[in-house]
Amino acid sequence: MNRKYLSFLAVSAFVWALVGCGAEQGGTQKTKVWNVASIQVEGHPQNEAVKKMGEIFGKLTNGRYRFEVFPNELLGPQRETLEQVQYGIIEMAIMGNPNVSSFEDGFLTFEMPFLFDDEAHQRRFFTTSPLVEKLFSRTEKYNFKIVTYFTAGTRNMYAKKPIRTLADLKGMKIRTAESDTYAKMMKALGGAATPMSFGEVFTAIQSGVVDGAENNEASYSSTKHYEIAPYYSYTRHLIVPDYLIMNNKLYSSLSNEDKAALQEAARQAADYEVELWQKDAQERLAQVKEGGATVVYDVDLKALQQAVAPLHAELTQNPEIKEVYDAVKVTSELK
Ligand code: GCU
Repeated sequence: MNRKYLSFLAVSAFVWALVGCGAEQGGTQKTKVWNVASIQVEGHPQNEAVKKMGEIFGKLTNGRYRFEVFPNELLGPQRETLEQVQYGIIEMAIMGNPNVSSFEDGFLTFEMPFLFDDEAHQRRFFTTSPLVEKLFSRTEKYNFKIVTYFTAGTRNMYAKKPIRTLADLKGMKIRTAESDTYAKMMKALGGAATPMSFGEVFTAIQSGVVDGAENNEASYSSTKHYEIAPYYSYTRHLIVPDYLIMNNKLYSSLSNEDKAALQEAARQAADYEVELWQKDAQERLAQVKEGGATVVYDVDLKALQQAVAPLHAELTQNPEIKEVYDAVKVTSELK
């Protein structure tokens, strides 16, 4: 047995102890408890949306199901919680795109900088494109199912200094999530990507391992990164989704009625999350400003876009990426 697998078993035992046995006796019927892992803080739009989804699913199934959300990376970093979902240790997790794209190339498309025109375009794609269901179904062979997409807003760079131009970025080490596409993106922009998991970023900035990072307003604020990297520059380089995933065997075992109830609950939850997101981002921005951060709006976006254009050409050589890329572009014109 290799070391990695042993440590996975140890973490799984810990998670099992934490999440409990998964069924509650109430009156004459059993309520099944589905545990959901999230790296986000209490009150984050995604956690709120999953709670609401649990309530709706519970109602539609006469209380036969209940969701329990574990926030704050309590069950581990996203990569580990994806494995927990695959092995059926937990039922669901909220997942960043890079963890999914490492299984299926089509998802790499969403990691292209400046892919979507804006967040509304991303939403239009995920709610109207016939390709989405087909793409989502490709992860089922790895025993996880994508139940819904969630918006994760727009990602912007932050550091100890403002970033307005390519010259400002020259030679900077920026933490990104673990993805080759992000490494290529940072290189094209003149900096260097330092990949690491979400929970490691604060110390990395503090100790100078990286010069900065990039994320949406919610994560910049909730992690308190603004205290050590107080310039938040609207580089708007990525609009990359998150997903709610679940164990595929569990999904397949549901009756058709329960599947339909789950899908309806997921649809309502995705709408709710988008609705919460905008307000949350504005509140978070006010919070970081109050905490001493400076928000920089006058970024030379044209120069950034031009610098990464060759990356679009390179990535779309891959037919699986090209298929999704073309479908995304079609929904740009549907305004
Ligand atoms: C955001 C995003 C997560 C992602 C994280 C990160 O919080 O919603 O899915 O993992 O950023 O940068 O690691």
